[in-house]
Amino acid sequence: MSRRGGIPRFAVVGAGAVGSALAMALSRRGFKLRALVTASSRTAHRLKRRFPKIPTGASLSVLPDDVDLLVIAVPEQQLSSVALALAHRFGTALKGKRVFHLSGSISSDVLLPVEKKGAVVFSLHPIQAFPADASIDDRASLLRGISYGFEGDRRAERIARRVVRLLGGRFVRVPKEGKIAYHLACVFASNFIMALHESARQLTGAVGGSLRTEDLHPLMESALRYVMRSGAARVMTGPVVRKSGETLRRHLQYLDNSEKQFAAVYRALSSVIVDAMRRRHRLTARDAADLTAILGGNSRRIRRTNSGGANH
Ligand SMILES: NC(=O)c1ccc[n+]([C@@H]2O[C@H](COP(=O)([O-])OP(=O)(O)OC[C@H]3O[C@@H](n4cnc5c(N)ncnc54)[C@H](OP(=O)(O)O)[C@@H]3O)[C@@H](O)[C@H]2O)c1
Repeated sequence: MSRRGGIPRFAVVGAGAVGSALAMALSRRGFKLRALVTASSRTAHRLKRRFPKIPTGASLSVLPDDVDLLVIAVPEQQLSSVALALAHRFGTALKGKRVFHLSGSISSDVLLPVEKKGAVVFSLHPIQAFPADASIDDRASLLRGISYGFEGDRRAERIARRVVRLLGGRFVRVPKEGKIAYHLACVFASNFIMALHESARQLTGAVGGSLRTEDLHPLMESALRYVMRSGAARVMTGPVVRKSGETLRRHLQYLDNSEKQFAAVYRALSSVIVDAMRRRHRLTARDAADLTAILGGNSRRIRRTNSGGANH
């Protein structure tokens, strides 16, 4: 950076859910915010109310030349065009500047146009979900104390570590070739938990009676709490662990007939459980094969199953 060890001057291109929160969090902790860029003037005007002294606009022309650090917080599909536009806007004035994006799935290679002009590039992905309907302050507080996936070289690591330290986070190094697996882990840990909640909500609607989705929340909360404490293989409950092939069959019969959209998910997730239980020796090879046969639809291979009606 041009001001080694000094207070970095930074700007955010793409001040949406994460970008505006990061702008708030870093400026509160001493970095000097110099500009905010959005795609639309509408968002820029809205941001002006929260950042009244900061140049804000829907064009890269609001960026001053003297920034040390550029945060690109636009959606993934915009990254390459923004990188090109920044290379055009700054040219060789990018030399020595640090430029990073926040995507978990794309590497810093997408920033090649600015790197060619002399910038040091990296990606730094907050391992957190930022609900769009939360306030900037709430989203800024979500940045505290979380882990950050860094991908970049040694020159970039110094400033990335400084940013993470300032946010009270944990620095996690992610090799470039590991980014897709890294992002998939995040998707399974977050998006798919939400998808499972949505699936449970829809099945709740099929019950009749007075069951509400909220009635399932203590079940979800305790499952997550225990799994985070001890790992799924140790604390797993349910029909697979109880070797209740009959329950699996009745579940699948209902899903195949009445809620087809969940049948493939049920089979896939149950297979993951069978595999994990087998590895932890909570199922014998024979039990695992029997349950796998049921999940594959081959119920003739069932040799021994409990016929319990346990429901979770
Ligand atoms: N949301 C999350 O939970 C989360 C978590 C971790 C990482 N991330 C990463 O953070 C990055 C941003 O995601 P987000 O959820 O904050 O997106 P977002 O809420 O949709 O915000 C994107 C922002 O970028 C602006 N923008 C779009 N195209 C632009 C362009 N060409 N030039 C300048 N500004 C532009 C938009 O402006 P307008 O508002 O005017 O359209 C908006 O302010 C992504 O790489 C994402 O993967 C997100």
